[in-house]
Amino acid sequence: MTIEAIDFGRLYRDHLAIAARTRKTASAWDTRAAGMAAKALRSHYTRDFVARMDLTGAESLLDVGCGPGTIALAVAGRLKRVLGLDYSQAMLDAMQAQAAAQGFGHVETLHRAWEDDWSDVPRCDIAVASRATLVDDIAAALAQLNTKARLRVYLTHPVGGHFIDPAIQYAVGRSVPTVPDYIYLVNILHRMGIHPRLDYLVHESRLADAQDWNDYARRVAWSLGELSGDETARLRAWYERATPAQRAGEPMRWAFISWEKPC
Ligand SMILES: C[S@@+](CC[C@H](N)C(=O)[O-])C[C@H]1O[C@@H](n2cnc3c(N)ncnc32)[C@H](O)[C@@H]1O
Repeated sequence: MTIEAIDFGRLYRDHLAIAARTRKTASAWDTRAAGMAAKALRSHYTRDFVARMDLTGAESLLDVGCGPGTIALAVAGRLKRVLGLDYSQAMLDAMQAQAAAQGFGHVETLHRAWEDDWSDVPRCDIAVASRATLVDDIAAALAQLNTKARLRVYLTHPVGGHFIDPAIQYAVGRSVPTVPDYIYLVNILHRMGIHPRLDYLVHESRLADAQDWNDYARRVAWSLGELSGDETARLRAWYERATPAQRAGEPMRWAFISWEKPC
């Protein structure tokens, strides 16, 4: 058997099915819009993502799964047209509010899902998908992103496939399977004839800056799904014993994948 025989898109879908990840709805993301918007402005993640982008010759940017405009707004001052696409209306509203606060008149939003018809989504010089590629059909999503970019594509996808340190899952009494990580994407791109650059962004997990126990429990439940009374009690007992570093758990690792379009 050679690598050509492997359908990485199919493997990704099979892996995602095993992960049995509770699919986040647009309205679930709506509830996080305000919190993410407040954080996006001062995030090391944003700084490190933007530092790896090359905007040479670029006037327009499409940010898919843009959230509150985390990446798009960070570079909007250097572009003529910026378009944020997301299926959460609250995220798009947060992006527009932030664009207005910064005095940007060239920021547009598009209420759309990865899975919708994209025939009217404009082609832009740069296409971005930051922390927003955990979709059912990743091969289709990568093809869409590639089609909509004139010059370059930048995306991040999890490394390892856990959003919460397994030690914390253990404390709760759960064992959550991994989600398909970035290595599928690299192989699918290779099959598309694209040879991407690969880098990694490593940051504190989002549990690290939980304000208090309630905030901590809410963040764990966002990633693991609703906790039962018993699970909450287990987590609480562990939380009281744990050091701040143990509470934060392993850092979050993102693969930063980028490629240039042929001239
Ligand atoms: C983790 S947030 C990332 C937001 C932003 N790109 C960032 O890096 O801060 C994921 C975003 O993807 C959006 N999203 C998730 N699934 C989507 C889908 N199927 N179609 C469009 N947007 C989606 C969510 O609404 C959310 O805004």
